[in-house]
Amino acid sequence: MNVGIDKISFFVPPYYVDMTDLALAREVDPNKFHIGIGQDKMAVNKKTQDIVTFAANAAKNILTDEDKKQIDMVIVGTESSIDESKASAVVLHRLLNIQPFARAFEIKEACYAGTAALQYAVSHIQNHPESKVLVVASDIAKYGLASGGEPTQGAGAVAMLVSAEPRILQLNDDSVALTQDIYDFWRPVGHDYPMVDGQLSNETYIQAFQKVWDEYRRRYKKSFADFHALTFHIPYTKMGKKALLAALENEPSEEQERILEQYEASIVYSRQIGNLYTGSLYLGLISLLENGQLNAGDQVGLFSYGSGTVAEFFSGTLVDGYQKELLKDRHQKQLTERKRLSINDYEEMFNDSLDVNVDKEYKDSLLYSIATISNTVRMYKEA
Ligand code: CAA
Repeated sequence: MNVGIDKISFFVPPYYVDMTDLALAREVDPNKFHIGIGQDKMAVNKKTQDIVTFAANAAKNILTDEDKKQIDMVIVGTESSIDESKASAVVLHRLLNIQPFARAFEIKEACYAGTAALQYAVSHIQNHPESKVLVVASDIAKYGLASGGEPTQGAGAVAMLVSAEPRILQLNDDSVALTQDIYDFWRPVGHDYPMVDGQLSNETYIQAFQKVWDEYRRRYKKSFADFHALTFHIPYTKMGKKALLAALENEPSEEQERILEQYEASIVYSRQIGNLYTGSLYLGLISLLENGQLNAGDQVGLFSYGSGTVAEFFSGTLVDGYQKELLKDRHQKQLTERKRLSINDYEEMFNDSLDVNVDKEYKDSLLYSIATISNTVRMYKEA
């Protein structure tokens, strides 16, 4: 039985900062952000928009009433949780009106959590082929104003429907995961922003890719030649490229060019959005499928990386007719309709944090946004 991604879509908040504006405000050469980091725009959210609103807005793009009757599991991968106890997946399950006899839970391991959710969903479908699983990777990447990580911020969600006989990407039965206890990026309980050792995180990412790729090649007797494209977790678009360049070093130049060309297709959306943490790899996959030159039957490699660290390399096969299932027009419209913020407005929005200890009503034109805080509970505007 084939199992994999049947539908996939992303949602990002309707505001962005232009990276030239940010560079000039921080007295940095704009080329550092556009070329050195590889980012052109950065998604920013209002305080009435959180991981639940991103997740619901992303999922509503792909779910039919029939899907909602068949889904028996909802998993949210996130490192921007809004509660230490209750899972955002439970709220999402209600907002989306999914049939009640379902499991709903949140899963965590930094940016790797989306992949943990996807692999769990695949195992579930293998045992219950008639069911469907909604997997959502939703996050807000915030490092602080004028911090080293600031140009690598972002926000948004990717929603995937996982099923038997999927219409987009069937996952192959191959994967290599790696766990290493390293403090390259972490967020202690109670801290608004992560602690990050930027250079260590870069090095650990590159080494983790090399380790899982070498082990994958050894176990499955594969090489770059077996893949039409590779897509990566993208904290900033230069990061995956650095890992790829290191691994491609001894490959013939045509092979390097072929793989790097597909990598460029996989970063089109991330360049305009920034880091989605758990959703970044899957935003890269959407970008690759919607902007790359691929065909049914092609093999796609996926590298997932979560600081801390857990990494995994796995692969999938593109399904016949997958192009018909993509939402390219909707995704591109979403990006072009966003509002560009001045740096003053961005800083104001950044500092304007939600206080759940104050009961209050809010106005936000976004479908699925926070409408009221009542007794610390976030009540969402519903579709
Ligand atoms: N023109 C062109 N390029 C320029 C330039 C200019 N004027 N000025 C600088 N650059 C280049 C530098 O040469 C450098 O390129 P290389 O990496 O190829 O050497 C690049 O711009 C970045 O410069 P720095 O290394 O000096 O940048 P920095 O010290 O300001 O920090 C960062 C960069 C470490 C990524 C920082 O933004 C950060 O800490 N980000 C958050 C952590 C992160 O994203 N880590 C990635 C791996 S961890 C992960 O993947 C999990 C996750 O999602 C967080």
